[in-house]
Amino acid sequence: MNAQLSRARDLTRYTQDFPKPGILFRDVTPVLADGAALQAVTADIVDNAPAFDVVAGVEARGFLIAGAVAAATKTGALAVRKAGKLPVPSASASYELEYGTATIEVQQDIPPGSRVLIVDDALATGGTALAAAQVLRAIGAEVVGLSVLHEISGLNGRAALGELPLHVVFPNSET
Ligand code: PRP
Ligand code: MG
Repeated sequence: MNAQLSRARDLTRYTQDFPKPGILFRDVTPVLADGAALQAVTADIVDNAPAFDVVAGVEARGFLIAGAVAAATKTGALAVRKAGKLPVPSASASYELEYGTATIEVQQDIPPGSRVLIVDDALATGGTALAAAQVLRAIGAEVVGLSVLHEISGLNGRAALGELPLHVVFPNSET
């Protein structure tokens, strides 16, 4: 990991017992709010990604990452949103979270056959990423990979992904 990326990783804010007791929340918003850190994260994702046409960001922090990666690669950005936010949802999937359950939706805003890279702030159980891959495939996308900033070990998210290629920007960042 280069110095800029290491510095970016260290901007992650850890908060114990948020949003529920027992959860250690890894907040990457300070990383994304820092220009040099956002640049380093974006470059690392781009350098490690398979070829793609569109970047899909998972609500909410994934949106910021997707916008940066899309701008850096002159590709499009697609929002994978929490249920009820999109006017014309084309696919929907529900999943279990580290805490609670949720439903995500996506619109048919990209042509079938588009190669899509999914980005998000964190991988925990993998439920969110799998649901994102599911809704994207349902609109005809070829999901080529997943990039996350943090991987929470011990929740088997990596195994849950199966064959989907995973890149972790800040590996071994457990505190
Ligand atoms: C968090 C995180 C990932 C997901 C990872 O999102 O941002 O998207 O959990 O967990 P998983 O691998 O077990 O699915 P969350 O839905 O809590 O909220 P937010 O992104 O809207 O803040
Ligand atoms: Mg999320």
